[in-house]
Amino acid sequence: MKITVVGAGAVGATCAENIARKQLVEEVVLLDIKEGFAEGKAMDMNQCATLNGYDTKIIGSTNDYNATADSSVVVITSGIPRKPGMTREELIGTNAGIVSTVTENILKHSPDAILIVISNPMDTMTYLSVKSSGLPKERVIGMGGILDSSRFKFRLSEAIGCSPNDLQGVVIGGHGDTTMIPLINHATYNSTPVTNFLTPEQQEHVVKETMVGGATLTKLIGTSAWYAPGAAGAFLAESIVRDQKKLFPCCVYLDGEYGQSDICIGVPVIVGKNGWEKIVDYKLSDSQQTQFNESADAVRKMNSVLSEMSLV
Ligand code: LAC
Repeated sequence: MKITVVGAGAVGATCAENIARKQLVEEVVLLDIKEGFAEGKAMDMNQCATLNGYDTKIIGSTNDYNATADSSVVVITSGIPRKPGMTREELIGTNAGIVSTVTENILKHSPDAILIVISNPMDTMTYLSVKSSGLPKERVIGMGGILDSSRFKFRLSEAIGCSPNDLQGVVIGGHGDTTMIPLINHATYNSTPVTNFLTPEQQEHVVKETMVGGATLTKLIGTSAWYAPGAAGAFLAESIVRDQKKLFPCCVYLDGEYGQSDICIGVPVIVGKNGWEKIVDYKLSDSQQTQFNESADAVRKMNSVLSEMSLV
């Protein structure tokens, strides 16, 4: 089995490395437009095989899509990352054209692939992939909710003073600084509501820090984060290739679920070998549904840029 990761930048390379470490497939193809870049990163990762104990081969390619042929899963990370002070939305002009070309090239060589979209603005890039590819909606999945939920659980663990691995929590809505919705009332510390352990002020702090998680890192590092985004991409790929039926929030195409249609946005889904297999209804409260609708409005506004660019 083969997984392709398009874009050998920090997120793509980290994703490829995590896939290799998990030994998900025999072969990971890393593709980039920059001459020799993917080949170099692949060589470096292959030279970790005996150190990290994996047999997965990583194959680098400079924009030769023949190398990606017959991939089961393709992770799209292509495009520019944000700089400090930028929103994910500001990347749309550059990244939409890139993601649309990548989707087209990938499907020529791997018509049966399941696509994982990481490029930003992620909700709009996922929508673009669904619309421009004509693929069944189940085969296109945006990764954002897994990353945001992981950041949410980490922030909760800091506030409670416990292991993040003892926590359950999800972030739904858009993958934007103002559009994501950490569902703190649904989060638990080993089946006990986290709200039992935190003051209202602490809860508000955790939610706020989660929402600006990516922006905080971009400010500190000078570019967009990559360890958690890359790991989240591999985590999602794992649920597909191992048919794990994991339940986590991802950005998928809605057709009436959660009161929204013709949009890709984060909702809880079950993921297995066929892509996302079921959307789970969390029965949002009225105020959560209002927040979700506002988030969808913002994502839809961003999606309208795609029609202005004649991409959908
Ligand atoms: C982040 C980017 C990858 O949230 O969207 O770090």
